[in-house]
Amino acid sequence: MGNKVTVVGAGNVGSNTARRIAEKDLTDEVVMIDIVEGLPQGLALDINQSAPVEGFVSHVTGTNDYADTAGSDVCVITAGLPRQSGMSRMDLLDKNAAIVGGVTEALAKNSPDAVIIVVSNPLDEMTFLTALVSGFPKERVMGMAGVLDSSRLRYFISEKLDVAPPSVEAMTLGSHGDQMVALPRHATVNGKPLPELVDEAELEELFQRTRDGGAEIVGYLKKGSAFYAPSSSVTAMVRSILTDSNDVHPTCAWTTGQYGVSDVYLGVPAKLGKGGVTEIIELDLNDDELAELKEAAEAIRTKCDELAARR
Ligand code: NAI
Ligand code: 2OP
Repeated sequence: MGNKVTVVGAGNVGSNTARRIAEKDLTDEVVMIDIVEGLPQGLALDINQSAPVEGFVSHVTGTNDYADTAGSDVCVITAGLPRQSGMSRMDLLDKNAAIVGGVTEALAKNSPDAVIIVVSNPLDEMTFLTALVSGFPKERVMGMAGVLDSSRLRYFISEKLDVAPPSVEAMTLGSHGDQMVALPRHATVNGKPLPELVDEAELEELFQRTRDGGAEIVGYLKKGSAFYAPSSSVTAMVRSILTDSNDVHPTCAWTTGQYGVSDVYLGVPAKLGKGGVTEIIELDLNDDELAELKEAAEAIRTKCDELAARR
């Protein structure tokens, strides 16, 4: 404890993230900030009133004033529009770029030493924008998507094979979207390689359902997108940073030659600890997996170049 975490956006993902961080007592203070007056204040009070029952001592402050976020160790950006039925993540680009750009300026001014985790979509491009606007060293800016996509894949595998979800290990890399890269050879169920347990067609079905994991939920909800698994995923990253655990998470991180890719934000396995991304791990990928990863990187690079040119 003894840390301060700011969550920007008191919507579905933001409020659940603030709640999870508080419930796990990861920090003394969680500040939740939103542009809507009263929303973060009301939700913070509600979360704090659950403390005696849940047994946590962290305090959540709801505010509309960035002065209250000053000196944060970790900032999570969830501000922005979520997808609606029929929308792709990329449809959010222009509107969320304006929101995330403004939020980043305010965060960087008030918490110049913070690590920033971006959640707002389109994820890879918003992470790049946050790094650009903040001017922070790239290891202190990252995006959350791979933990969520991997958790979705792990859940679908557990459902298919009727095993407990935590007994499944699996990782997805690449982008948060159609160019997610699944790694069957690195997936295991109770230690057994996944390709020994399902056939090719079943593997592809599991991967495609994971790629479409966000859209499946948007389809059910009609209005808005997923928030329970996303808030769990970002909370796991916050925990690793605050505890300096250096646990490996699939993270949207700045590449510097790993996997033959440089100078682009891309979903890769990364150790997270004090100071942000402390190391990118290079898994043994085959030629097809490497080619898919490079393709995802180039698609992200193109979008980020367009975004940078418009600023
Ligand atoms: P939401 O609509 O429930 O909440 C968004 C909040 O942002 C609202 O309370 C709104 O008032 C606030 N906001 C808007 N402009 C703001 C500003 N300038 N400053 C501060 N707050 C501002 O949306 P939800 O479901 O919480 O999703 C948030 C974002 O996260 C969306 O862009 C969504 O697509 C993305 N997302 C990303 C995931 C990932 O894996 N990276 C997973 C789930 C959601
Ligand atoms: C998700 O994957 C919409 O990116 C969000 O649920």
